Amino acid sequence: MVPLPRLCALWGCLLLTAVHLGQCLTCSDKQYLYNGQCCDLCQPGKRVNSHCTALEKTQCAPCGSGEFSAHWNMEIRCHQHRHCELNQGFRVKKEGTAESDTVCACKEGQHCTSKDCEACTPHTPCGLGFGVVGMATETTDTICHPCPVGFFSNQSSLFEKCHPWTSCKDEMEVVQEGTNQTDVVCGFRPRMRALLVIPILMVILITIFTVFLYISGQETKG
Ligand SMILES: *[C@@H]1O[C@H](CO)[C@@H](O)[C@H](O)[C@H]1NC(C)=O
Ligand SMILES: *[C@@H]1O[C@H](CO)[C@@H](O)[C@H](O)[C@H]1NC(C)=O
Repeated sequence: MVPLPRLCALWGCLLLTAVHLGQCLTCSDKQYLYNGQCCDLCQPGKRVNSHCTALEKTQCAPCGSGEFSAHWNMEIRCHQHRHCELNQGFRVKKEGTAESDTVCACKEGQHCTSKDCEACTPHTPCGLGFGVVGMATETTDTICHPCPVGFFSNQSSLFEKCHPWTSCKDEMEVVQEGTNQTDVVCGFRPRMRALLVIPILMVILITIFTVFLYISGQETKG
């Protein structure tokens, strides 16, 4: 037994089919069903002003300024363009048209927090002892790595890599070891030592000379 409502629907459809010749519930591509009529959709950049009737085709109207419709549609209103809020770190990447939405991106120095770019956040600088291995982009944050042994980073920066320690050349030698945050300090240590040795030697020589003079003075007296 077919239930009564379904039976009625079936008969109704057959009846409509007989009357409208194949227009029962199926409209062609770029058409929509409205009050038993197949109406033409409005093209992108436009919206429906009035639905079609048995006598008239669909009336379409262009989207106003600041509005768009991206697809063939049967909408009464166009959509508002997205607003790129400057105070939230956004900028306009691509102006909207009658057929496309405005595209926002993050301002210089900021990146999107998600794929849809619903919010912007400032790039993170790489701190002391860390170097930049990947600069931030419009959509990704800075990538920082700790400086390996032999390298240092002495500033918080969005672009500085780890720098290699200075290698002390010629008569210079390391007077202070490098760290991951500070460079090696080179100096003239051998010459410094020589400079220290000279006064010490002189003091010793003068002492010996004085003692010698004193002793020879004693001997002359005696
Ligand atoms: C830098 O060196 C110090 C001392 O060796 C260490 O404690 C610290 O974790 C290092 N920092 C980084 C970023 O590797
Ligand atoms: C970092 O190190 C470099 C090279 O040693 C030096 O020229 C610069 O002044 C240092 N900067 C800071 C902020 O300490």
